[in-house]
Amino acid sequence: MREKICIVGLGYVGLPLAVEFAKKHDVIGFDINNQRVSLLKDGIDQTQEVTYEELKFSNIKFSTDPNDMSECNFIIVTVPTPITVDNLPDLAPLKSASMTIGSVFKKGTIVIYESTVYPGVTEEECLPILESTSQMRNGIDFFVGYSPERINPGDKKNKVSEIVKVVSGQNKEVLEKVAVLYESIINAGVYRASSIKVAEAAKVIENTQRDLNISLMNELAVIFERLDIDTTDVLNAAASKWNFLKFQPGLVGGHCIAVDPYYLTYKAEKVGYIPEVILAGRRVNDNMGRFIASTIVKKMIKNGIPINDATVSILGITFKENVTDIRNSRVVDLIKELKEYGLNVQVIDEFASKEEVAKEFDVELIDIKNAKTSEIVVLAVPHDIYVKGGWNLISRMVNPVKNIVIDIKSTLNSLEKPDNSILWRL
Ligand SMILES: NC(=O)c1ccc[n+]([C@@H]2O[C@H](COP(=O)([O-])OP(=O)(O)OC[C@H]3O[C@@H](n4cnc5c(N)ncnc54)[C@H](O)[C@@H]3O)[C@@H](O)[C@H]2O)c1
Repeated sequence: MREKICIVGLGYVGLPLAVEFAKKHDVIGFDINNQRVSLLKDGIDQTQEVTYEELKFSNIKFSTDPNDMSECNFIIVTVPTPITVDNLPDLAPLKSASMTIGSVFKKGTIVIYESTVYPGVTEEECLPILESTSQMRNGIDFFVGYSPERINPGDKKNKVSEIVKVVSGQNKEVLEKVAVLYESIINAGVYRASSIKVAEAAKVIENTQRDLNISLMNELAVIFERLDIDTTDVLNAAASKWNFLKFQPGLVGGHCIAVDPYYLTYKAEKVGYIPEVILAGRRVNDNMGRFIASTIVKKMIKNGIPINDATVSILGITFKENVTDIRNSRVVDLIKELKEYGLNVQVIDEFASKEEVAKEFDVELIDIKNAKTSEIVVLAVPHDIYVKGGWNLISRMVNPVKNIVIDIKSTLNSLEKPDNSILWRL
């Protein structure tokens, strides 16, 4: 059946979802950001998740007018769920979107939240706002569901339609309607969660688990550095056993994996439990920029490379490879720390916007062709272009007599390392 759907919040998650729904249904794409909406109308997606052709051929009606939602029978919320400077959940966008929806939706609407939250947010925080602003009764006049998004930005293979979608509803009938709606676009199928809270919890633990898996690898990397053992060699050897789970150390940034665990820890503390393991993992991951910077300086001293006037080239500043997103990039910790040691730092990233990086982090991005010869190169974010360029690219950037190459995610072939380079991997 052809439904009328409004997607509220057209970011990394909302826009690809709107495009997919628009193949089968009538879709309104609503956002409060005028500039974003007018660019989308012109077929331009600055996040580069959706192409010009996909936008031009889709029948999405982009809008900043909340009244456009009033004819829809499904409203899907994909607004940001950030944290405050104190690492507490910031539900302001979610609450404000709920107020807007409550003031315009019609009787019978199902509101489905997709933003990542802690268990209870949909029913305890958003639902009361929908009721009070609409003066309608939940369960009689309108209904709620939750379906956590699983988008992997920059991933052109695992697109929204190819990833199993968890769905939930406030009762069996709503669950079924939500499931049928998503089944119309998700080739991989849907998973019916037993309640909204279960679906909320499932999403937040996906990211918490990933954060913790990486934090263990990061802690191992710190230990192995002291023991002068190569972490990647150790992990490869251990992975020869069938039940060893192979994860990689690295900088954990972005607005999901580094943020979502704080939603869960907040709720845990609210119910009287201090989640020691999760918080310890967060601390380990947040300290990796500092650890890498101090390791670089130690390696320089050991190898007789003077700190004064030395230049470090950082390749990549986005929160992960092959995306333009710089939110919560932890490469910035490394840059800041290296500058505090008095090193000259030049940062290169073909994906990130120069303007955004300057505004957000006060860091100037330079073009690779203008880079000064440097004593150190840090392959911080292995965009495909850097990995393909490999040692040839790096050799053109470094001091030919002696240099140190830091391959944070072990993407360079260590067997091809030139003799004048000292290689260290996290
Ligand atoms: N991007 C990801 O990979 C990813 C992964 C897992 C979970 N998530 C979760 O999905 C949610 C959305 O993330 P995103 O990356 O798409 O965010 P985003 O910042 O890319 O986009 C959010 C959009 O919502 C709009 N918006 C903000 N407040 C609004 C309001 N009140 N009404 C209407 N529009 C509003 C913003 O203008 C923006 O365009 C978050 O909860 C996030 O944690 C995202």
